[in-house]
Amino acid sequence: MIEPVRADITQLHVDAIVNAANNSLLGGGGVDGAIHRAAGSALLDACQHLSGCPTGEARITPGFNLPAQYIIHTVGPAWQDGHHGEKQLLENCYRNSLQLALENNVKTIAFPGISTGVYSFPKDKAAEIAVKVMREFEYRFEKIIPCCFSEGDLVLYQNILSG
Ligand code: APR
Repeated sequence: MIEPVRADITQLHVDAIVNAANNSLLGGGGVDGAIHRAAGSALLDACQHLSGCPTGEARITPGFNLPAQYIIHTVGPAWQDGHHGEKQLLENCYRNSLQLALENNVKTIAFPGISTGVYSFPKDKAAEIAVKVMREFEYRFEKIIPCCFSEGDLVLYQNILSG
């Protein structure tokens, strides 16, 4: 089931939450900063042993102080003009994160809006891509949660899912 919610992703009691990271995996602002703050400094130690992550790929760590058992870090594309492979790279983020979750027996997983903050990916385009890939994996998970940080984002996902 795909179930959008409005929440702070660091507080969700799911098997895995996904982090919108950068290529260094060493933390940042936005949801990346919130996750590192909530998970604690052990997360940074774990990430330092991962030697980064290419855009579109995903890496997994424990959740440490989070309610979630795992954090899946993925690096979204920074939006330029839509003609630099951004859509395919964002699709890769969702697909690689879900594939990695399956490999770790994850049954419930929550995603923030990858690339829709600092990386400026248009929210409507990003949500369409996210739902398209989530639907490919829908029946292999108990719950896939688009975790929206604003009411507007939640309504966007609800409209796409009911369309
Ligand atoms: N819970 C859920 N969603 C959140 C939270 C939170 N606590 N905080 C922010 N968000 C939402 C934002 O509103 C946005 O919709 O996460 C989405 C992604 O925004 P960013 O965190 O800015 O991520 P992104 O656009 O992918 O940019 C990644 O920003 O923080 C740095 O290190 C990160 O360099 C990387 C870049």
